[in-house]
Amino acid sequence: MNTIDNDGRVVALVPAAGRGVRLGEETPKAFVPVGGTPMVRLAVDGLLASGVVDRVVVMVPADFTERAVALLPPSDAVRVVVGGAERTDSVRAGLADAPDAGYFLVHDAARALTPPELIGRIVGELRAGRRAVVPALPVVDTVKSVDAEGVVTGTPDRAALRAVQTPQGFAADLLRTAYAADVLATDDAGLVERLGVAVHTVPGDPLAFKITTPLDLRLAETLIAHRAAL
Ligand code: CTP
Ligand code: MG
Repeated sequence: MNTIDNDGRVVALVPAAGRGVRLGEETPKAFVPVGGTPMVRLAVDGLLASGVVDRVVVMVPADFTERAVALLPPSDAVRVVVGGAERTDSVRAGLADAPDAGYFLVHDAARALTPPELIGRIVGELRAGRRAVVPALPVVDTVKSVDAEGVVTGTPDRAALRAVQTPQGFAADLLRTAYAADVLATDDAGLVERLGVAVHTVPGDPLAFKITTPLDLRLAETLIAHRAAL
């Protein structure tokens, strides 16, 4: 709870440069429509609607920059940059584009239905002095660890497990330090943990689920069709 910078600008980095192999569409996943609107647009709209984000940097595949600019809201607060081969590379590209940030949110384009209230909760924790904050939900399945042959090696206590979502929020200097090392991770908090810095959790939201598979896309389509009722 140090280095409180209550005036710091909040920059949201939106990784949208993945191919979406598990979704299996021709188009890169972030550009696949949900209810007629590309996921990346929905994600950016959610960030702007939260009222707590000063700027958004969207990382897209190199051949999708023009398309991204055309479909995102025409605002000085939204920028498009080229992402990289791995998600970590994409986030790194976003970090390089935001030297003025006081805080970073890293938010997957694929979490297209994330409620703005959740985004507000994360930024509220940052402004209150937390240096690393992630949304987390209890795990509903029993989780096993397995060896290379798929034989179970253990059953961690489910009560101590959480499934984490995005946006993940960080003091800007902390995330930059975490990314200074040449490492890969599936989430940003994982890199911060390696520094020995405490990562705090706040309650996540089921609607912040990541659209990964065709079943997830069907769920998202159904939800957005009934959005007024969400
Ligand atoms: N992402 C990115 N750059 C990459 C890989 C992923 O910006 N090189 C982004 C994706 O666009 C997505 C988010 O990171 O918004 C979460 O990744 P994931 O759900 O794994 O998306 P994909 O990598 O596109 O999907 P898959 O792993 O099935 O190919
Ligand atoms: Mg991926």
